[in-house]
Amino acid sequence: MTTPLRVGIVGAGGIAQMVHIPNYRKCGDRVDIVAIADVVREKAKAVAESNGIPHHFTSVAEMLSAVALDAVSVCTPNKFHAEAVIAALEAGCHVMCEKPPAMSVAEAEAMARAAERAGKYLTYGFHYRHTQEVEALKRFIDAGELGEIYAATAIAMRRRGIPGWGVFTNKELQGGGPLIDIGVHMLDTALYLMGFPEPDCVIGATYQKLGIKPGVGLLGDWDHEHYTVEDMARGFIRFKNGATLVLESAFAANIAPRDEMQVKIMGDLGGADVFPLTMYQEKLGSLIDVRPAYLPEKSAYEVEMERFVDACLGGPEPLSTPAQGVIIQRIINALYAAAESGETVKL
Ligand SMILES: NC(=O)c1ccc[n+]([C@@H]2O[C@H](COP(=O)([O-])OP(=O)(O)OC[C@H]3O[C@@H](n4cnc5c(N)ncnc54)[C@H](O)[C@@H]3O)[C@@H](O)[C@H]2O)c1
Repeated sequence: MTTPLRVGIVGAGGIAQMVHIPNYRKCGDRVDIVAIADVVREKAKAVAESNGIPHHFTSVAEMLSAVALDAVSVCTPNKFHAEAVIAALEAGCHVMCEKPPAMSVAEAEAMARAAERAGKYLTYGFHYRHTQEVEALKRFIDAGELGEIYAATAIAMRRRGIPGWGVFTNKELQGGGPLIDIGVHMLDTALYLMGFPEPDCVIGATYQKLGIKPGVGLLGDWDHEHYTVEDMARGFIRFKNGATLVLESAFAANIAPRDEMQVKIMGDLGGADVFPLTMYQEKLGSLIDVRPAYLPEKSAYEVEMERFVDACLGGPEPLSTPAQGVIIQRIINALYAAAESGETVKL
């Protein structure tokens, strides 16, 4: 493919304006942002004008039929990911879709099949994989420093971090609350570091205790009268290779830290906390903690978007694949089903 890569964006909200557009811009003359679509015409127009994007539309279909594109960023609420992703792939575009992949397993599978049929990349906005900590730890794991990884913990907990903007508290549009929104980032990070083992079964529980009442909002004031998602989710995932993962995620919980994003990995030769990166080993009769003295300071979002552009232009494949998106969606939806039924859900 020749440069510049002709890019279109679907959804002109927060993540499009703060991550996708500025990071495409940082790619310089390798990328041309040609069009943006948003169901709210005024928003599409305003974001197009303020970013020098020549075309704006009110739907992905309209955008794809009017302009020739090589790649599309899908930045809509979760409910509309599948429709936009499949349309863009069928129009012959590579796609960078924001996380989570979708609302249901059937959608994530249909998206993976569409990518396969089109022979185009579909990758997801799991930017924590591109943090320097995760990149460094992955190298240690791949070199065998932690041995066999058999246990992990994924934590995405906020004390009072219910978003006061957007649709993050709307189950109809997002599919759920902290589990599918922030828990999914740490779930993906843990799975990536564990080598994406095949899930076997899950148990889970969700709680809606704080979001439905007024309270202190550290991320703005949320609408407690229309709060339809869980405020905390907890789960236990067992994999077919015997490994297990404990996951906890909350927009609001009575805990000490303001927020905590963490993955803990345990192997038979060593363990690690990812943020900040510290490895735990036993060597020559001593228990030792190993920390990198220096990690480059690079924005994970910037690395993620740069790598997507590189892949579209013939460079290495994106890290996050459609098949991994299906596994993540299966686990998330199984955790919600397990929470609702109170039963173990087989995958
Ligand atoms: N990677 C991250 O860290 C991260 C952070 C925030 C949000 N996200 C994800 O990004 C997505 C969007 O989140 P946001 O914070 O930008 O939300 P937002 O509400 O700020 O923006 C979404 C935009 O999509 C538009 N829209 C709705 N339906 C549409 C459709 N069918 N076609 C075109 N446009 C449509 C809305 O009008 C709105 O402008 C979500 O999937 C969210 O999970 C990821």
